[in-house]
Amino acid sequence: MNNFSKPNMSLDNIDTIDTNTTITKHIERAINKVFNRTFSPEEIINLFKTLEFDREWSFTNCKQSDTGKWTHNYHSYPAKFIPQLVERLFDEYIIVKNAKVNDPFFGCGTTIVSAISRGFRASGTDINKIAYLISKVKSTPIEPTYLNKKIAQLLKKLEKETLEPLIPNRHIERINYWFSEEIKNELGKILRVVFEEDDETVRNFYLVAFSSILKSCSIWLQRSTKPTRDLKKKPSKPYDIIKKQLLKMQKRNLIFYNIVPKYVRENIKEYLNIKIGDAKNQPVQKDSIDLIVTSSPYVTSYEYADLHQLSTIWLDLAYDLKEYKKEFIGTSYKSYKDKKPRSQIANNIINKMSEKSKKVAEEIGAFFIDMEEVFDESFRILKSGGRCCYVIGNTKLRGIDILNAEVFAESLQYSGFKLDRVIKREIPLKILPQKRDQKTGRFSNQKDANVEAYPAEYIVIGLKE
Ligand SMILES: C[S@@+](CC[C@H](N)C(=O)[O-])C[C@H]1O[C@@H](n2cnc3c(N)ncnc32)[C@H](O)[C@@H]1O
Repeated sequence: MNNFSKPNMSLDNIDTIDTNTTITKHIERAINKVFNRTFSPEEIINLFKTLEFDREWSFTNCKQSDTGKWTHNYHSYPAKFIPQLVERLFDEYIIVKNAKVNDPFFGCGTTIVSAISRGFRASGTDINKIAYLISKVKSTPIEPTYLNKKIAQLLKKLEKETLEPLIPNRHIERINYWFSEEIKNELGKILRVVFEEDDETVRNFYLVAFSSILKSCSIWLQRSTKPTRDLKKKPSKPYDIIKKQLLKMQKRNLIFYNIVPKYVRENIKEYLNIKIGDAKNQPVQKDSIDLIVTSSPYVTSYEYADLHQLSTIWLDLAYDLKEYKKEFIGTSYKSYKDKKPRSQIANNIINKMSEKSKKVAEEIGAFFIDMEEVFDESFRILKSGGRCCYVIGNTKLRGIDILNAEVFAESLQYSGFKLDRVIKREIPLKILPQKRDQKTGRFSNQKDANVEAYPAEYIVIGLKE
């Protein structure tokens, strides 16, 4: 049963607190990582102000070959986290061999792949259809000799000159916007051969390879995560690059195949239960999950539907791109006019923002309301004794601090969780895009003047007692 009651807002309900010394003592306990009690909004704000970086969670020594190990680097994905962080949370919090792990926002499947590699059962949702395809392929090892044979056959078929290009008609205008005639036809021929493959697992593997090359074959500005055209760009040749990509993925599959326990490989359907769907309503049994490890979307930072539009149009994954966008949490296409979040910290942020922009204030409100529903859902599906770990950073929009992590810490409590631990970690520059446009809050890789760096993120951990 979720506990919606707000903790007492004053500090005097906590032990003997009435002096600054006692508050400091509490904060010190918090810095020493593990607490497990109810915090008022004021205490949460103070706690975060005094939190120090926990260097053990920076993973500064990790090279790209570590963060992109196994199948983790099949496909680029914005704001993905690193497997080392996930694995460390597994090490600290999973004590049973046959654990069940969940990620409500699995993205490109970092948590899911790592869970499968350990022999855990993995479940989760993502509203992004391309995320589902990528995650499914990354976490399904294919028998290597069989895959090698299949890839060799595919490459041979691609050499045929007479192939009829398969180009999805529904989004032809968008396709023409991003691709030259020659490249469009070459991609269409590849797609034709991919769809001739009868084995769905292998076909999906090809589709991920196909999706992963689209950006470099298009005139999408290569360094940008935003849909920006670069009319001077020289796009890559689809045949050359798909071949390279398939051979790279073939090697990665072999490594992953040897890592995944045999009993998982042979029963992958039983171990892998991921769905395209809404994190607020997961098809997962109540009281069944041992650990949730996830990183949530951010308010108006990434429009995932836009970012993956090249894959969405080529793989014909959405009938109506506009409607599709509204299903994403954190999108700027959403507002709940008469509803407020339960979090007091969230309401303070919304009130401040209302003075600058009503629209942005509504978007922030919608984001926190959605996230509160996700926390309720996390509480429902976790076993007693289970934990949810939300990785989140703070942002600045229109000059106002959007204290996502503080709001998450407060909100988790209203869903019934005890705030168990908060870890403040550095994000090494080489791993994640560090900059956001100050005006829009969107992540940016560009050297625009108006950007702010946020080198920190938090892991906010709730315990279901
Ligand atoms: C920060 S990303 C997660 C990245 C992931 N941790 C990884 O390593 O790839 C957030 C994800 O939330 C997804 N998302 C947005 N709204 C959603 C919703 N309503 N339900 C489920 N997933 C959603 C986005 O599609 C995106 O993949």
